[in-house]
Amino acid sequence: MSSEIFAKVQRVLEILHTETITDATSLESFRIKYLGSKNEIKALFGEIKNVDNDRKKEFGQLLNDLKQAAEEKFELFKEQLESTSGSQSATDLDLTAPVEMFSSGSRHPVSLILNKIINIFGRIGFTVAEEREIEDDWHNFSAMNTPEDHPARDMQDTFYLKDSTTELLRTHTSSVQARIMTTQKPPIRIIAPGRVYRNETISSRSHCQFHQVEGLYIDKNVSFADMKQTLLYFAREMYGPQAEIRLRPSFFPFTEPSAEMDVYWGLNNEDDYRITKGTGWLEILGCGMVDPNVLINCGIDPEVYSGFAFGMGIERQAMLQYKITDIRQLFENDARFLRQFSGVI
Ligand code: DAH
Repeated sequence: MSSEIFAKVQRVLEILHTETITDATSLESFRIKYLGSKNEIKALFGEIKNVDNDRKKEFGQLLNDLKQAAEEKFELFKEQLESTSGSQSATDLDLTAPVEMFSSGSRHPVSLILNKIINIFGRIGFTVAEEREIEDDWHNFSAMNTPEDHPARDMQDTFYLKDSTTELLRTHTSSVQARIMTTQKPPIRIIAPGRVYRNETISSRSHCQFHQVEGLYIDKNVSFADMKQTLLYFAREMYGPQAEIRLRPSFFPFTEPSAEMDVYWGLNNEDDYRITKGTGWLEILGCGMVDPNVLINCGIDPEVYSGFAFGMGIERQAMLQYKITDIRQLFENDARFLRQFSGVI
């Protein structure tokens, strides 16, 4: 009789040794089977009354060993599970499931054009100067030779900060010229990309915020020819090696002489006629030799130094290159619009 009961315990012990778990559920089944309130070992303890008296002690010892083995195994399984949790067990992975596509995002068309321009000028030694968007009227207007009564200073055109007549949102990146010339000594060779603001009615063609890139080159003996060659190089890098430019006389308070530069766009189809108003030419930027008054205002001797400057809008160039017909699309951040530029660098 006793030996039969001993054999039962032996079988349970053998089975215990072969137990494995794969996850929290099988760990719980193991616990219920060996350590739960109605576990198998408890049932065996109930058999003690059927064991011969002289073997009762031995039987009790065996059951205690079994119980301890079950407890140790449970602890071991628990540790195993904890150390592998987080990394799914191999059996939980569905290797045939489709890959979750992650979206890589895209560059904004304004950034694309800005980066292109920065690269082009970087190759001929222009470094990037970034400055504040909230300016004072001295850097934005006075230093740039724009008199007090100039219409650009009017509240109608310029966003002044609340209750201020001197602090404003810069209306052009030309303010960076004043910032750089008052803090650096020539030779100066910078481009200043950035956002500017004007109090304009928003439409498909104009916005109250937009981007410009300013250029400034100051050194001894800088000539109009240097400027022309620099801008021709820019036009050919930006619009292709065949690009032609023309400079038309113009006026800006901060340059003398001043010019506007057109790039030949071509007249190959109806769109070209519309975009260039039938001329084939597109106005790209304003430029000129830095007015001696500006140099004096910023503490640079015009008898020793001369320089040229230019300023160009970015949105218009982005719209031309990517055939965007409404400037507002550049500021709405509609993901469907922006997604069209994914992969463009
Ligand atoms: N600041 C001018 C504007 O916003 C653009 C410009 C014209 C900048 C001529 C220049 C320049 O540096 O020389 O319309």
